[in-house]
Amino acid sequence: WEQSGDDYDYLFKVVLIGDSGVGKSQLLSRFTRNTFSLDSKSTIGVEFATRTIQVPFFLCSALLCLVDPQNLLSGTRQVEGKTIKAQIWDTAGQERYRAITSAYYRGAVGALLVYDVTKAATFQNARRWLKELRDHADDAHTVVMLVGNKTDLAHLRAVARGDAAVFAEREGLAFVETSALDATNVDTAFQTALAEMY
Ligand code: GTP
Ligand code: MG
Repeated sequence: WEQSGDDYDYLFKVVLIGDSGVGKSQLLSRFTRNTFSLDSKSTIGVEFATRTIQVPFFLCSALLCLVDPQNLLSGTRQVEGKTIKAQIWDTAGQERYRAITSAYYRGAVGALLVYDVTKAATFQNARRWLKELRDHADDAHTVVMLVGNKTDLAHLRAVARGDAAVFAEREGLAFVETSALDATNVDTAFQTALAEMY
């Protein structure tokens, strides 16, 4: 996956949304810098980070052939090695610290809607975040990945995996549970979301 340098074939904007404290900023730093901090501060305004990834062969036909129809004609061999630069935007879950909503969502091809598996209220609010996203996203096909974070806190779990899976299914969202702390499924969450775009 990892790619150095600044060359890329496609640039995808992905936004992180969800209540304050669910771990959006830590998922971002785990994915883009492979770091984690337990005393991370609430985000104020907007931050973003990028990671350039190489599309693995098995995703080529699913993703790039749709992005660029030329690839359909020439087969998957030609798209092997194409790189995607993921530009991931992170804003505050707290209303008073949030940036102007429409600018945040503009041009996003994907969203990670994050809740905290130890806090039921953050899962209940997912519906509200989804509505906001759908009201503002300019592309009706924006890929949404529901992300239940903090699975390392198993003894504090308050949202059953099955309940979230049912919600995701009903709303047509992809779904994964993650831990930014121990890195479980963090790459998978972003990579699956990126792969489902378009
Ligand atoms: P806002 O910026 O206020 O919207 O919050 P946020 O969603 O960005 O949350 P942030 O990433 O700042 O994380 C909030 C707290 O949860 C911090 O203390 C993190 O260290 C902690 N945290 C984040 N992810 C995990 C995780 O996977 N496991 C555990 N145990 N703690 C986590
Ligand atoms: Mg944050």
